[in-house]
Amino acid sequence: MEVKVAAKAGFCFGVKRAVDMARKCLHDRDGPVYTLGPLIHNDQVTGALAWEGINIINDLDDIDGPGTVIIRSHGVAPEVLQKAQEKGLQVVDATCPFVRKVQQTVHDMVQQNIPVVVVGDPEHPEVQGIVGWAGGRARVVRDAAQAGELDQYPVVGVVAQTTQRQDNLDAVVNVIKDSGSRVYVYNTICSATAERQQEALELARQVEAVLVLGGKNSANTAKLAQICRTAGIPVYRIETAGEIDPAWFKGLKTIGVAAGASTPGWIIEEVCSRMMEFEDMKEEEVMEEKVDDV
Ligand code: F3S
Repeated sequence: MEVKVAAKAGFCFGVKRAVDMARKCLHDRDGPVYTLGPLIHNDQVTGALAWEGINIINDLDDIDGPGTVIIRSHGVAPEVLQKAQEKGLQVVDATCPFVRKVQQTVHDMVQQNIPVVVVGDPEHPEVQGIVGWAGGRARVVRDAAQAGELDQYPVVGVVAQTTQRQDNLDAVVNVIKDSGSRVYVYNTICSATAERQQEALELARQVEAVLVLGGKNSANTAKLAQICRTAGIPVYRIETAGEIDPAWFKGLKTIGVAAGASTPGWIIEEVCSRMMEFEDMKEEEVMEEKVDDV
């Protein structure tokens, strides 16, 4: 059995930067260190960071005394940064520079009285932070259907959540243009996401099944799996090597491995090693392993 790993797989620049900044905090700062929400959507990484002493809080009011709060790569609304400072907390802002650029873009448009449309998931923290930088004056649409329900604007600026698919952004922009608006499009889709999506699709076309590695709550991992499924082959989403069922690969010769931007390299390596172990297994051993797992 041949295991092929997508050319771009695992930690993106912004996630690696955030994890490195968090670890540096533990050495450089006195007092407790917190992250506002899980630093990344990967339980294995956040579990390791918690073990090293980084506490996850969901609200700044959960902190009573002094300490350092790390802002994750998704970023936050400006009010959150202000509140942290008012509470006397030290702030380490690990907002990904690409997300920061979206925040700055919407802020600038609102300053010029240009209405803003954000293409993305309104429930996602990155989008909520972006809307905060627009002073709450941004409309969020998930897709072209929702774009069709927008008011007609003479002029409008459009940005995208960094993990959006290009075809979704294009479809939304077309609907808004068709309504007669003059549209300023800022393509804020992160190239790391697009590269992982493209590489995963190319991989899926060359293999008989794909394992997509990443956190269960990771939006970009879910999108990678969705894209791989368009190749018409089985796609399995897992977080760790322990979830692999050897029966998935019975009779297959080529398996692909793709990984979301929040998956660390050590999990990719662990999965590949596990797959190589299966290569030597006889059919009965695979069946036994499956029974043991139940
Ligand atoms: Fe940043 Fe792109 Fe990663 S926006 S957090 S480098 S997916």
